[in-house]
Amino acid sequence: MLDPNEFVITRKRKKYKFAKFANAANCFEREEWPKHAVDVLEIGAGTGLFSVELAQTHPEKTFVAVDVKGDRLQKGAYEALARGLQNIYFVRARADQLGELFAPASLAKIWVTFPDPFPRKRSAGRRLTHPTYLRTYAKLLQTGGVLQLKHDNPTFFAWSLEQLVQSRWHINELSFDLYESDLAEDYKVQTTYERRWLGEGRIIHFASATPGR
Ligand SMILES: C[S@@+](CC[C@H](N)C(=O)[O-])C[C@H]1O[C@@H](n2cnc3c(N)ncnc32)[C@H](O)[C@@H]1O
Repeated sequence: MLDPNEFVITRKRKKYKFAKFANAANCFEREEWPKHAVDVLEIGAGTGLFSVELAQTHPEKTFVAVDVKGDRLQKGAYEALARGLQNIYFVRARADQLGELFAPASLAKIWVTFPDPFPRKRSAGRRLTHPTYLRTYAKLLQTGGVLQLKHDNPTFFAWSLEQLVQSRWHINELSFDLYESDLAEDYKVQTTYERRWLGEGRIIHFASATPGR
């Protein structure tokens, strides 16, 4: 068992946070994930606090927040533990490893919230709405399952819509100003980044899409 306090003394904040991640009962490294059945996945979840809010509102559903950064995820994980939530897990993994973590056609919903836009053309393959990732999401979603995207960057959002349409996804719901729309309240639960962008007066875009079969 790692002792988080030992890391505080050495002032290695990141290591301390990694130790906290390793010690939390609801946190898993990719290779130790016991493949619990889940309904809703958030990929690139950061702190995962968005999924924590949704898990609290929907106790009948099971959530999983996935990110490569354990030091971020542990924030949401400890918040979930403090709230006594039993229906949310946190997994440290990369988006290209999702196929190893979840069964095909098992998820009802995938959230992609404020992914890094990677503006350089040569980094397009790293965008979480790149066709390579869309293929993975399509495999993991149940029939009728949806991908939901929120973003502040209009260029990235437009590019993502193009990828969805070109990959034959159906756009079910769309807003170029989420907070002026009548769309569901769940969509307006704020992520950590979203809170920051809204504070700067940015406008949030939202899309919900289903893979073409
Ligand atoms: C801009 S942050 C947004 C975090 C969170 N969704 C939010 O809205 O507050 C993007 C997150 O995506 C994660 N990320 C980027 N590429 C990833 C990948 N290939 N697999 C998993 N996570 C990734 C980063 O570690 C980072 O936490």
